[in-house]
Formats: sequence, C-alpha cells, structure tokens
Amino acid sequence: MQYDPLISQDYRSQAPEVAARFARIRSRPVILSARNLKRNFGAGPEARTIFEGVSLDIHRREFICVIGPSGCGKSTLARIVAGLDEASGGEVLLDGKAVSGPGPERGMVFQGYTLFPWLTVKGNVMFGREMGGQAPSEAEREARQWLDMVGLGKFENAYPHELSGGMKQRVAIARALANGPRILIMDEPFGALDAQTRAQMQAYLLQIWRKVDVTILFITHDLDEAAYLSDRILVLGTNPGGLVEFIENPVSRPRTVEQFRGAEFLALKRRLEEHIHPPVEVEEERLPMVKLTLAGDEVE
Ligand SMILES: Nc1ncnc2c1ncn2[C@@H]1O[C@H](COP(=O)(O)OP(=O)(O)OP(=O)(O)O)[C@@H](O)[C@H]1O
Ligand SMILES: [Mg+2]
Repeated sequence: MQYDPLISQDYRSQAPEVAARFARIRSRPVILSARNLKRNFGAGPEARTIFEGVSLDIHRREFICVIGPSGCGKSTLARIVAGLDEASGGEVLLDGKAVSGPGPERGMVFQGYTLFPWLTVKGNVMFGREMGGQAPSEAEREARQWLDMVGLGKFENAYPHELSGGMKQRVAIARALANGPRILIMDEPFGALDAQTRAQMQAYLLQIWRKVDVTILFITHDLDEAAYLSDRILVLGTNPGGLVEFIENPVSRPRTVEQFRGAEFLALKRRLEEHIHPPVEVEEERLPMVKLTLAGDEVE
C-alpha cells in the first residue's frame, strides 16, 4: 500500500481486523492495573513530581511498550511495578492484589548486564528457583528448558564473560522467565546492543512471547522498537508528568520487517514522533550574525 501522508495523519486504523484484534485483547482478564499512580522525589521546596494520575489496565498476554522523553519516569514506573520503588500515591495491582516489594511473579530484565559473573549460564538461570527451595535436579532440568527456548542450550556451562552482549541478555530473559513470572518488566533491555543484534533480539523476544504465556511491559526510547513489538504503546510526558496517550498499535501480527514501510507502521511512527518532538517555536533571526571572518576575507 502507498503511504499517503494525508490519510495517515491519524494512526488509528479503520480496518475491521484491527478492531477485532483489540476486542479480543480487551476480552482477556486484566492482569496489571495502576490506579492514580504518583511519584515525587525530595521534600519541601525541593519536591518534584515525576508523574501523577497514571491509571491503566493491562490485559493478560499483552505486549505493552512505554516511551517518553528522558527523565519522564519510565524506569521509575518499571521499578514501582517491579516493587523496587514505592509510589508516593495510588497503587499497582497484579491479579487484583496490591503490589508491595519484589516478587517472583514479576520478572525484571535491565539494560545493564546483571548476570552473576561467578555462576555459569545454567547456574544463573537456576538461581531463583533454588533460592525458592526447588530441588537442584528439578531446577536444573527447568533451566535447560529455558536455555533451549532462548537458543543457548549449548552454552549452559559457559560463564557470562564468555558471552556476547546479545547472548547475555538472552540468559537474563531465560533467568527472569525461569521464575514463572506473570509479567516480565524490561527496561531498555536492548539499549546497549548494536543495531543488528538489537533487531535479532527483538525478533527473538517476539518468538519467545508467542510461546510463553506472559505479559510484557517493555520500556524503550526507540520508536521503531515500540512499533515493531507492542500491542499498545504507553506514552509518558513531562511538565506535567503523566500519561499522554495509550496507543493501540494498528500493525498486524505476525510482524515482519516489510511492515516497516507499510502505511500503518508509518502513521503510527509519525504519531509517536509528534509526541517525542513537540513543536518548537522558531524565533525570527533578529540577532546579528557573529562574524568570524577577518577584515578583507569578503566571502559570500
Ligand atoms: N532515587 C531518586 N531520587 C531522586 N530523584 C530520582 C530518583 N530516581 C529517579 N529520580 C528522578 O526521576 C526522574 C525520572 O527518572 P527515570 O530514571 O525514571 O526516567 P526515565 O524516563 O527512565 O529516563 P531515561 O529515558 O533517561 O532512562 C529523573 O528526573 C530522575 O532524576
Ligand atoms: Mg530509564
């Protein structure tokens, strides 16, 4: 389909299959809710509100991406959902129960490589299960399954320093999934990878997500990544900080790289770009230009 800039102003698709897909998603139970969530830092005159009034419902097995300018509180929101930070107001509910503190039902994958360097790949993946009291032989069997799932079965005895960045993040995903989370929270997990590895990891993650019954909350500042991965995209803003828009991604699944040039993808990206690059007032040039030429240069 040809991209028409006029009809693509609005990213919302009129296609019945898109409406049907979101009707199906909405018919699934809500797994994660935020109710009037607020986060302040500091006290007294130094107090700063990062975001407030954030309310949302995420359905089972949804893939949610979160975008927004640097400092708008994406990581803070992820940490609150993970139970690593506390909200200043409002609450987060997982399966209807208020979240407080970390728990195995919420897995986390960060941008930085967080594997334990003294444990093998398998040891890293087994770690949470063993700590939770599972018999080592059973934990080992499950760890192998997860490593096969992320395509690293052959590396079970390797140490993290022997792996590439992309492989480390695959182990981190296997480790998070091995604990059987209801939701996987990923904060810019591919941010440190080169473009090619990053694209491979995105495709991998979609494959895993199709096979595993898990909901994903994925923070990114990469608009292509958000458009490629998500069911819906949560846009956060600053001044005031909070939810700007919760966008239904009209691009059909399964996703392919050809769709990057399709009308839906481009319309969606355009919408995201409008959020990320707000209109800037261009002042008329009134100031004299600073002359760096020497007298006599006389260049035009
Ligand atoms: N523990 C803290 N104490 C004080 N301020 C904090 C703390 N943690 C975060 N902040 C502030 O909260 C704001 C949001 O930070 P956060 O890391 O959530 O933003 P972000 O959207 O993830 O940014 P980026 O895109 O750069 O990763 C920032 O202004 C940051 O300085
Ligand atoms: Mg962040």
